[in-house]
Amino acid sequence: MTELIARPAAKPARPYYSSGPCAKPPGWTPQSLAVESLGRSHRSKLGKQRLQDCIDLMRELLNLPETHRIGIVPGSDTGAFEMAMWTMLGARPVTTLAWESFGEGWVTDAVKQLKLDPTIVRADYGQLPDLGAIDWSNDVLFTWNGTTSGVRVPNADWIPADRQGLAFADATSAVFAYPIDWAKIDVATFSWQKVLGGEGGHGVLILGPRAVERLETYTPAWPLPKVFRLVSKGALAEGVFKGETINTPSMLAVEDAIFALEWGKGLGGPDALIARSDANAAALDKIVADRDWLGHLAADPASRSKTSVCLTVDGADEALIKKMASLLEAEGAAFDVAGYRDAPPGLRIWCGATVDTADIVALGPWLDWAYASAKTA
Ligand SMILES: Cc1ncc(COP(=O)(O)O)c(C=O)c1O
Repeated sequence: MTELIARPAAKPARPYYSSGPCAKPPGWTPQSLAVESLGRSHRSKLGKQRLQDCIDLMRELLNLPETHRIGIVPGSDTGAFEMAMWTMLGARPVTTLAWESFGEGWVTDAVKQLKLDPTIVRADYGQLPDLGAIDWSNDVLFTWNGTTSGVRVPNADWIPADRQGLAFADATSAVFAYPIDWAKIDVATFSWQKVLGGEGGHGVLILGPRAVERLETYTPAWPLPKVFRLVSKGALAEGVFKGETINTPSMLAVEDAIFALEWGKGLGGPDALIARSDANAAALDKIVADRDWLGHLAADPASRSKTSVCLTVDGADEALIKKMASLLEAEGAAFDVAGYRDAPPGLRIWCGATVDTADIVALGPWLDWAYASAKTA
């Protein structure tokens, strides 16, 4: 199918398909944000209350049990995950799992910065490593949803309940999109600009009881900058998990996250958010199934992402993908659909909860148009 085809008649209502920052929640406007906490100290009664409101809403929408703490930290997901690595690793051997660019980033941290000599378990783009072969006497680092390959872990069944090591999950493209068995997770991190469609800037750090125990009983050999310090005089800095942030947060980002969380709650909570991702991923899967020139980069449907869906395009190289993405952008039909720069050339369509299924459906004819147009260009 390389002949030029007519532009589709209808455009997606909200052509936002970026895998982060992701589409804002439907109905979002800047005017809909609460702003009373802006221009005030984040340590005022109101500031602390709004931070606590945000924490409470996240706990509710994550189905997070009381066993786990949840706090807002600096530096987006990277800040939160590196905070966990820098404060807890080195106590026992480490295994790092990587099947795409972000997991590979944590390997680099462990090897080159912390010099931990970890066991590295890798898989190519589109694949998962053998999760059944992991040695859980080690601390294990993994990415729940590999945003750049569209491959996720299917669930937490591969993590043993009686593990000796800690399970560290970079869950930024996963939370609010998949059910998470929190008993299997010692550390999880994410940032608001993914499934919530919030703003970048802050990370969220979740700690299970064994992670807290590690923090209180182990002191790493390396120095810790202030923004990583979670322990004071041998005890967990509990304030971090009650809205007493380590340093100054953006209250605008906090209010924006609260808007998204209240939207999710209004929809019906965690199950409703998950259902929206599921419906979007199913609609995109139908588009793929109907076209012989489109395929999934993730080979196995059981570990195929329902948020960052990565697609192969027959005969595509970087230039063709760039052309398709720029044609779609120029038409205002689809923004930010090119795959990640380190991934094999292809498309990446965000299917998280803030995207409307009708906009995924409306994308299909535009992909046909862009493919035909880019090939004949
Ligand atoms: C799996 C994963 N980890 C980490 C990051 C980095 O997140 P942040 O920019 O919030 O630090 C991303 C961003 O896309 C990601 O998808």
